Amino acid sequence: MSKVIKVNIKDNSYKIYIGNNIINNVDSFHKEYFNKRSKIVIYDKRLSSSIYFKKLIKKLGKNTNSIAVPSGENSKSIETLSIIYNKLFSSNIDRDSVIYAFGGGVIGDLSGFAAATYMRGIDYVQVPTTLLSQIDSSVGGKTAINSSFGKNLIGSFYQPKLVLIDINTLDSLPKKQMLSGYAEMIKYGLIKDKKFYLWLEKNGKNIINKSKKELEYGIYTCCKSKANIVTKDEKEKGQRALLNLGHTFGHAFERLSNFTNFTHGEAIAVGTIIAFKYSYELNLCKENELKRVYNHFKEIKLPYEINHLFKKNIKATQIINLMKLDKKTVNNIINLILVKGIGEAFICHQINEKHLNNFLKKIGFQ
Ligand SMILES: NC(=O)c1ccc[n+]([C@@H]2O[C@H](COP(=O)([O-])OP(=O)(O)OC[C@H]3O[C@@H](n4cnc5c(N)ncnc54)[C@H](O)[C@@H]3O)[C@@H](O)[C@H]2O)c1
Ligand SMILES: [Zn+2]
Repeated sequence: MSKVIKVNIKDNSYKIYIGNNIINNVDSFHKEYFNKRSKIVIYDKRLSSSIYFKKLIKKLGKNTNSIAVPSGENSKSIETLSIIYNKLFSSNIDRDSVIYAFGGGVIGDLSGFAAATYMRGIDYVQVPTTLLSQIDSSVGGKTAINSSFGKNLIGSFYQPKLVLIDINTLDSLPKKQMLSGYAEMIKYGLIKDKKFYLWLEKNGKNIINKSKKELEYGIYTCCKSKANIVTKDEKEKGQRALLNLGHTFGHAFERLSNFTNFTHGEAIAVGTIIAFKYSYELNLCKENELKRVYNHFKEIKLPYEINHLFKKNIKATQIINLMKLDKKTVNNIINLILVKGIGEAFICHQINEKHLNNFLKKIGFQ
């Protein structure tokens, strides 16, 4: 049995299938959606020996070509993209072909951008294999690579034709990566769904321990929420920006560490707590709401202080300068997602840099 969600975007609608046995049926999906069209799989090299990767290739047809991409954020680069284009050409991939992206957010973002630009755009399918990519990056059509000037700065909005979420692929995912995805999962509760947040407080441990029942409900709820948001605001002119709760800080931490030592989710976990603390500092959010979230992060073993990410001292000005490189910064003014409480996030366009600087010093930056 699988659950289905429809993402209703004008001219670009598609379905998300979530379940335990999805990859086993990929041949039927291909037939239904693409008939006899040729296909190629772009995948995370780390998954070469995964039974689900082998199954995917077998089901798509033993002669299906594939492109292995080294795992890690550094692959979201212009160099890797160029290698992919060359392999697509040499594999005779044409405008009628379909790309299957098998891996986490790195593979999804990179393959999506390759699909968006190769021959002015060819169809692609997301087959996400990390919790983070199953609840966030595989839905919504944001595709990107990084630049030395910042993360995800080169990209496009390009929706997939289909998203196939097979929960069993998470069997091999390390706990650190489960926690990384969980940080994004809580985000959906914190921005606009207090009920889901309260459910997570009770069931978070089961999610991290990969209990299938809770995973399926959690993934379904997040995808539904994301589908709703992108249906209303595909190109992030408004509401979609709420999904960046914790991210303006988090992206700065990731750049500062050059994407090593901690995961994306760990960076945004600390960023989320800082966003709550700053909201409290500005008298926007009550102290008990901040404490509640803080305690849950602590209990679930997500990082929540800056010294959980960095051993050395970090300067407030360093962070603020990096935050200014974020795409949400316009005319050098930082925009932040802040909260009025759990489930009540909003976009704040009036961040005073000096005030933010003093606040960061108060909470452990130099
Ligand atoms: N497009 C979007 O809307 C969007 C949203 C959120 C995040 N992102 C992007 O997603 C990326 C982060 O995604 P991620 O956390 O999935 O990173 P990732 O793709 O790097 O995967 C994390 C790690 O897990 C490994 N892995 C993947 N699947 C596995 C499996 N089934 N078993 C064992 N190991 C596995 C990978 O090799 C990697 O080491 C970032 O680049 C971020 O910018 C994009
Ligand atoms: Zn994220």
